[in-house]
Amino acid sequence: MPTRILEAPAPPRPQKRRSLMADSEEDIDMLTPADMTFTPVAPSSLLPDEEDDHDVDEDDEEDNLFTAHSNAQESYLDENENEPSVTATSHRRVVAFADENQDDNVEYADENTHVGGAFGHSDEVDADLGDDTLHSDLELEAEEDDELESSDDEDDEDDVDVVHVEVRLRPEATLLPSIIEANIPPFLRNNYRWLSGGTLVAPEGWADVGVLGRSVEQIYIAECGDGHPVDAQEATYHVHVYKTVDNYVELSGGLDEDEEEQEANTSAASVRDLPARELEGLWDNLIYDDDIKPRLLTYIHSSMLFSENEVDFNVIAWNRLVLLHGPPGTGKTSLCRALAHKLAIRMGDKYTSGRLVEINSHSLFSKWFSESGKLVQKLFDNVTAMVEDEACFVVVMIDEVESLTSARAAVGEPSDALRSVNALLTQLDKLKQHKNVLVMTTSNLAGSIDPAFVDRADVKQYVGLPPAQAIYWILAGCLRELARSGLCPGGEKLLEWDELARSTRSVASKRGERARIASLQLANTARQAKDQELSGRFLRKVPLMAHARYLASNRTPRVDKWVEAIARSVKDEGESRDRIAAAEGTARRVAAAK
Ligand SMILES: Nc1ncnc2c1ncn2[C@@H]1O[C@H](COP(=O)(O)OP(=O)(O)O)[C@@H](O)[C@H]1O
Ligand SMILES: [Mg+2]
Repeated sequence: MPTRILEAPAPPRPQKRRSLMADSEEDIDMLTPADMTFTPVAPSSLLPDEEDDHDVDEDDEEDNLFTAHSNAQESYLDENENEPSVTATSHRRVVAFADENQDDNVEYADENTHVGGAFGHSDEVDADLGDDTLHSDLELEAEEDDELESSDDEDDEDDVDVVHVEVRLRPEATLLPSIIEANIPPFLRNNYRWLSGGTLVAPEGWADVGVLGRSVEQIYIAECGDGHPVDAQEATYHVHVYKTVDNYVELSGGLDEDEEEQEANTSAASVRDLPARELEGLWDNLIYDDDIKPRLLTYIHSSMLFSENEVDFNVIAWNRLVLLHGPPGTGKTSLCRALAHKLAIRMGDKYTSGRLVEINSHSLFSKWFSESGKLVQKLFDNVTAMVEDEACFVVVMIDEVESLTSARAAVGEPSDALRSVNALLTQLDKLKQHKNVLVMTTSNLAGSIDPAFVDRADVKQYVGLPPAQAIYWILAGCLRELARSGLCPGGEKLLEWDELARSTRSVASKRGERARIASLQLANTARQAKDQELSGRFLRKVPLMAHARYLASNRTPRVDKWVEAIARSVKDEGESRDRIAAAEGTARRVAAAK
């Protein structure tokens, strides 16, 4: 079998696992392969032969093992940063193929600050790097690994670690997805020891490999087992191969030919083909402190499993209806879109196409009261036509359902508004007969959601304001993005939230120390922003406001200047909100006095 050894990318850096999803695509962990030994699977032999995939010369491996740790140490010291972002380039094989019986793990990153989720096994790397920081990290990893192994022992056979790999094809790719699918597991087994969720596989690993290189645009390890790193050899791979599409149309109500009227109607609904290019990365951009995202995904998996097995829903009831509620600006609308996109990727093997129909209840029921009954009918005629194609998976999203409640409350007796709300509910009830549909609803006003929805929803998920940790992720992610675009030197060196507590010891280099202090200040600002109850929507605007107000004279302010400006902007926001509240109070008192 032909074996291609690719130029190896980058080396070791101990890195903590993520407890939250990455906050920007740039910030997503990047897997860097230890060695690029890869044997493409020929289309004619689609079943990967796992035993034969390890074409590694054992002697080579030992040689590399020897040079790896000394080179790693050298570059590590050269960096003079005491941050183990080593830049050696010639010994990745050590990382991937070091002795599996050893206990210590090192995670590897490439030098572009895309941090690796690939773990290597090597006592020697550990011993020779000989740095305190590194050691404690490694020990921690080792302990965690022990835990992992003991829990593995108790696992049932069914309980194997599942790795979800999302593989995005180039638009022009013509190869059958099944061929790509068959090639991914051997590629990962051959090149990585451990896999962890939320990591992009560095293109250096596969971009030059025939089958993958020609067709694949991105390989993303989306989730692994129950959140722990998973042994690449033991894992069960679920490979989801997809292409994105770019098709978005506003659904015209089509009620009359009057252009003005048409235009106004269009805002009530839209249809988007899935997976949509513009929704790529959105799921990872949304950050919550609890497990909202995995919980939603598992609900969908369970519900789809029941559907696939044709469980009779007269016996076991479920409505394929999810309700997300909470304050405005917490990402509910985005989460619905992101989930729809994710589902389309995950179910690509069961359905040939996906659609997201967005219905904005606010425009539907408040602006066009008199026509909304007809519009609902029209809309659902469209949706029904889509759903009848069983190869198409349809997500219907009804945004801001609280408008329905007000539409009902606005009238005492049957009227157009009430009739159209009822029509909507009837249509939704009909939809649940189809297994290729999911309805997602959102509401900004938890207390006033129509009981008709509360009753119907299988999952009622509260989406709250982001906690300090999530705020830190959002702001640090913004600064990393600015660093990437050259506007915030040093932003890429900001620490992760869970590194902050351990960062008290002084760091040798000036840049490292500056980034550490900036990180601690940013964490304080995050706590303040949390106390001020700032929404995710607002937080993403802060960097621009901070620049305009405090940094406009400086083209490329350093990260510490950015953090200071952000802190001031957050404080300004607090003050202006206080002023508005005070003014409102005065206005109310004046009104009361009149
Ligand atoms: N928890 C969060 N994590 C990351 N970004 C968030 C979060 N909540 C809100 N945002 C940001 O705010 C913007 C508005 O979110 P949106 O989905 O419209 O909120 P909602 O529907 O709850 O009002 C999003 O584009 C997103 O960038
Ligand atoms: Mg919304």
